Amino acid sequence: MRDRKEQKKKQKIGVVGGGLMGHGIAYLFAAAGHTVAVFEPAADIRASLPRRLQSILELLGDDPALLARIEAYDALAPAMAGAAFVFEAAPEKLPLKQQIFAELENAVAPETILASNSSAIRSTEISRHLKHRGRVIGTHFWNPPHLVPLVEVIQNENTADDVVRATMALLADAGKVPVHVRRDVPGFVGNRLQHAMKREAFALVAAGVCDADTIDTVVREGFGARTAVLGPMEQADLVGLDLNLDIAEVLYEHLDRTAGPPAVLRDKVKAGKLGMKTGEGMRQWTPEAADAVRSRLSRFLAAQARGRKKNPA
Ligand SMILES: NC(=O)c1ccc[n+]([C@@H]2O[C@H](COP(=O)([O-])OP(=O)(O)OC[C@H]3O[C@@H](n4cnc5c(N)ncnc54)[C@H](O)[C@@H]3O)[C@@H](O)[C@H]2O)c1
Repeated sequence: MRDRKEQKKKQKIGVVGGGLMGHGIAYLFAAAGHTVAVFEPAADIRASLPRRLQSILELLGDDPALLARIEAYDALAPAMAGAAFVFEAAPEKLPLKQQIFAELENAVAPETILASNSSAIRSTEISRHLKHRGRVIGTHFWNPPHLVPLVEVIQNENTADDVVRATMALLADAGKVPVHVRRDVPGFVGNRLQHAMKREAFALVAAGVCDADTIDTVVREGFGARTAVLGPMEQADLVGLDLNLDIAEVLYEHLDRTAGPPAVLRDKVKAGKLGMKTGEGMRQWTPEAADAVRSRLSRFLAAQARGRKKNPA
């Protein structure tokens, strides 16, 4: 039984994949005092790891000594040996993740907890052919993982209860806000909520009700302005469920229920209009305008993260 006291110990954490998510996950565990081994097969990505970790350090103003606790490896087995937890952040391909987990099973102790950061692939599928499925769990971090507090901890049908508890404790001790998702459903909780809203947004634009810029203004300057401090269930109770019911009676039948991706999304992708990286998606982007959005987001998240460090909840 892995109890909470045991979690407070500084442990070895393995991270598989040192890309966008992997380097942030490695950083946050090193910042919490653990030693971290990152397996990254691509030489150029491995070589850029120290620079990327250094820029997080500068953003957050942490003690430079923490970087010495992170080591990069070019092979999986030596990197993961002795790890108490492994967080997989490799590309989003089921056969690849299944192969990595099969290799992990031979590289770590039977009690090592194996977590996948997949956004969409269920850990039930990833662990289907393993011998010890009870120690496999989903941990869905949000980008950037060192700045966004939430981690969805997804228990699949085989995950043992003590594995959920140990993972939640490790994440909470590292300053994250873990939530227990009790069933391994596609999209977990956060992406289901996010994409339910996006489906409606795409439908409103496609129907000519408003343009894409207006959608963003309505969210950012409207309910988004309070969403960071008021969840939708709190908001429903705040205004009263009777009012919610009255609105649902009138409105819900008009909300978009298209099965599958909307035509506007398929058409844009087919036309090569992919968003900021191509200069046009739902909106038009110059490189400067795209950089301004990225920098606005990064400054906002970093200021929030620094604020949480000064005034922990
Ligand atoms: N990017 C996001 O916003 C986000 C958010 C939440 C979850 N995720 C999930 O996290 C995972 C990683 O996404 P990312 O955005 O960091 O991708 P990424 O492409 O930036 O990083 C993946 C890394 O894995 C490495 N890799 C390739 N083959 C590998 C192998 N066999 N073993 C180990 N590493 C290997 C790649 O070289 C690369 O550096 C995916 O499952 C993704 O769905 C991404």
